[in-house]
Amino acid sequence: MITVYGVIGFPVGHSVSPAMHNAAFEALGMDCTYQAFEVKGERLQEAITGAKCLGFGGLNVTIPHKEAVIKFVKPDPVAAEIGAANTIDFKKMMAFNTDAPAAVDALRDNGVEIAKKNVLVLGAGGAARAVVYGLLKGRASVTIANRTPAKAADLASYMRARGDVFGTSFEGLPDKVRMADIIVNTTPVGMKWEDKPLVTRDMLDKTQAVFDLVYRPVETPLLKEAKAAGAKTVDGVSMLARQGARSFEIWTGVKPPLDVMERSARDAL
Ligand code: ATR
Repeated sequence: MITVYGVIGFPVGHSVSPAMHNAAFEALGMDCTYQAFEVKGERLQEAITGAKCLGFGGLNVTIPHKEAVIKFVKPDPVAAEIGAANTIDFKKMMAFNTDAPAAVDALRDNGVEIAKKNVLVLGAGGAARAVVYGLLKGRASVTIANRTPAKAADLASYMRARGDVFGTSFEGLPDKVRMADIIVNTTPVGMKWEDKPLVTRDMLDKTQAVFDLVYRPVETPLLKEAKAAGAKTVDGVSMLARQGARSFEIWTGVKPPLDVMERSARDAL
């Protein structure tokens, strides 16, 4: 009998996760399917219970449910500390966060070492929480800069037990960028065609690396600026594929075909 997997979110129609996971199942000859399900907040608990009762293999959880899900499914220690999860495993009935390790995997697989590096994280929302956690675990020194500085300070004080982290505003951003080895954008800036990047080529040089979590468009205005400055770039698809691959392994116990997943995500975008 076919095993069903899926992603729940709202909206979820443009998700590339079905393309990514179905390509992996096909490549490995597994009798499984992965679909996107639109679920509103008030039905989240019912949707999870329903999927469990129907014998689903597992679920990804995306915006806006990543924080709420841990009220209904016990988080593993990492997801509990981050305060958000994106993966439910029905066998263990546990929620995991694969975004945090995927951010680090994306950097490392693209040749960007993070240990002892100064990383400037732009944004202090849900995505930043996972990224900052992953970076600190990888022994980076992190500066969180945010439009609303109080949120950067809050996130930094929450994460301080994990490592060297500091919260600040966007004031004097060019100097903050110049002092960083790696710049990570966790804000949605770049998703809309009219968006002006927060960081421009004049602030960057070829010794730096720039990682944008935005994956639609794949080459964001920020990454264009980084390329123009000769900096190394890591795109959001790189992280998207790696969070998916880690979810796949949690559910199936099978080593995921990461190259197949990443290629299908790029094709779908
Ligand atoms: P996510 O879960 O994707 O991280 P979020 O929790 O809503 O989404 O966080 C969005 C982050 O992007 C916040 O840090 C937000 O800054 P504020 O805390 O000041 O709201 C940041 N952000 C959103 N739009 C932005 C913009 N146009 N310019 C700069 N920062 C922006």
